[in-house]
Amino acid sequence: MSTTPAIPTDQVSFEDMQGLIRFGHGALTEAEFLLCLVKDASAAGDWLKDAPVTSAATQDSPPDTALQVAFTSQGLAACGLPEEAMSGFAQPFLSGMTGEDSRSRRLGDTGANAPENWGWDAANAHVLIMLYARKGGLKAWKDAVLNAAFNAAFTEVQSFPTRPNEGFEPFGFRDGISEPKIDWKNAHPPSKHGREDYSNLISPGEVILGHRNEYNARSASPKLDATTPNSDVLADAPDKPGLRDLGRNGSYLVFRQLAQDVPGFWRYMDSATGGDPASREALAASMVGREMDGTPLIHNRRDIEGSPRQNDFTYEDDINGVSCPLGAHIRRANPRTGDHPHQLEGRIGWLLSTLGFRRRRDKLPGRHDLVASTRFHRLVRRGRVYGPKMTPEDALKKGGKPGERGLLFICLCVDLVRQFEFVQNAWMASPKFNGLTGEADPLIGGRAQMSGVASDGFSIQKADGIEERHPNLPQFVTVKGGGYFFLPGLRALQFIARHGS
Ligand code: HEM
Repeated sequence: MSTTPAIPTDQVSFEDMQGLIRFGHGALTEAEFLLCLVKDASAAGDWLKDAPVTSAATQDSPPDTALQVAFTSQGLAACGLPEEAMSGFAQPFLSGMTGEDSRSRRLGDTGANAPENWGWDAANAHVLIMLYARKGGLKAWKDAVLNAAFNAAFTEVQSFPTRPNEGFEPFGFRDGISEPKIDWKNAHPPSKHGREDYSNLISPGEVILGHRNEYNARSASPKLDATTPNSDVLADAPDKPGLRDLGRNGSYLVFRQLAQDVPGFWRYMDSATGGDPASREALAASMVGREMDGTPLIHNRRDIEGSPRQNDFTYEDDINGVSCPLGAHIRRANPRTGDHPHQLEGRIGWLLSTLGFRRRRDKLPGRHDLVASTRFHRLVRRGRVYGPKMTPEDALKKGGKPGERGLLFICLCVDLVRQFEFVQNAWMASPKFNGLTGEADPLIGGRAQMSGVASDGFSIQKADGIEERHPNLPQFVTVKGGGYFFLPGLRALQFIARHGS
């Protein structure tokens, strides 16, 4: 007789989770990220033991500052983690963002985006220190955190100052609107998430390791033998007697520095629309899928009186892309509903549709399995903007403010391949998506041919069935560096801290 596997519904511990997983620290408008090398493992352990790392537990009054700490796989090794502890981590984390040519190809990191052109590579660093503070507070916070003990332990290799957070990305569009809602209380079985309709709800195990995920299983988490020295600071691995859970309440963190050519972006929009300000903004909005103030191009959203919920919509009534182009950034990044040919049931149909080999022209019944598939590819985004601000008007003037600007893209997930790499590859970089061919993501696409197929077009679907084609898009976004990190739970951080001596 077969036994039904136990369904993991353990309570999530916010005390053991770094705050960034639950909060974007949006009110802490100032932020700086530092990439460091461990120069003395024992000193690193001493600093990490006492570091004021911010947890996800709610405080009586929101904090004025926050500190989060993440590690590359090289960093965990440099902190002295035993091989046994390392081996349980996911392969992409261990080999790193640039560890395999095939990974670089899949991510679109070729041509101008290729790692050999990057200014930095997380594979050459150990620790990512993330500092956040309210307006005017960052310098004092930085001085407090980067104290003598820190300097004895780490060498800074790269610093990433950010522009004060105003909620807009450098092209000028409101950002950070759509985030998955995490079912922290595990109140709804994943079988209900998005089954009946698109839902923004996902299980905790889609963002933290060791908890129930959308497959109704525990997300994979590195474990250790309970006899491993110092492992008593870790929680016992649930369902695995004799093992301790090193990944529990931790997450994988993807960090990519994406430089944005703001003058190039607005000059293209301007010249493609004959210099008409309203039309150039409309073209840019069709590439994003939202207007500059964040209003979605989809009209079936359910507005609450007086306060439009800018994220409560689906593509169900726009399956042909007439309101929001099929290839718009937000539609690629999260196809919600309406982007899959629902007549194809089962895994093969799902795969074909997801990879963009089929086009759905008409509303078809039986959509549930395919609607549900988007919930396996959600990302929690935590990026910040860098570089001097430039308005579209300034961008169009000759000799606007010089300097590089862009997005320090950060997202959190439990499965780097199923979540980040899938979205980046199948939905963003691939020139075949949702029946479209010859176009990748209009904002972030690298424009190089992929497997002989052009990727530099953009099409806007029209009610009369005749598409407005924009061929030969210039590259607007260039990758300047990146890496995969582990953002440990706070107990795991104490375990890491105890390994330097
Ligand atoms: C410089 C590069 C990028 C820019 C300028 C950019 C800009 C934007 C903007 C303006 C939005 C709409 C606001 C919102 O819905 O929150 C958005 C949404 C989104 N972006 Fe990006 N983005 C960039 C890179 C990326 C990358 C690399 C990914 C993932 C691989 C990504 C994934 C998403 C997702 C998942 C959404 C939300 C879609 C939704 O749920 O409707 N973005 N982005």
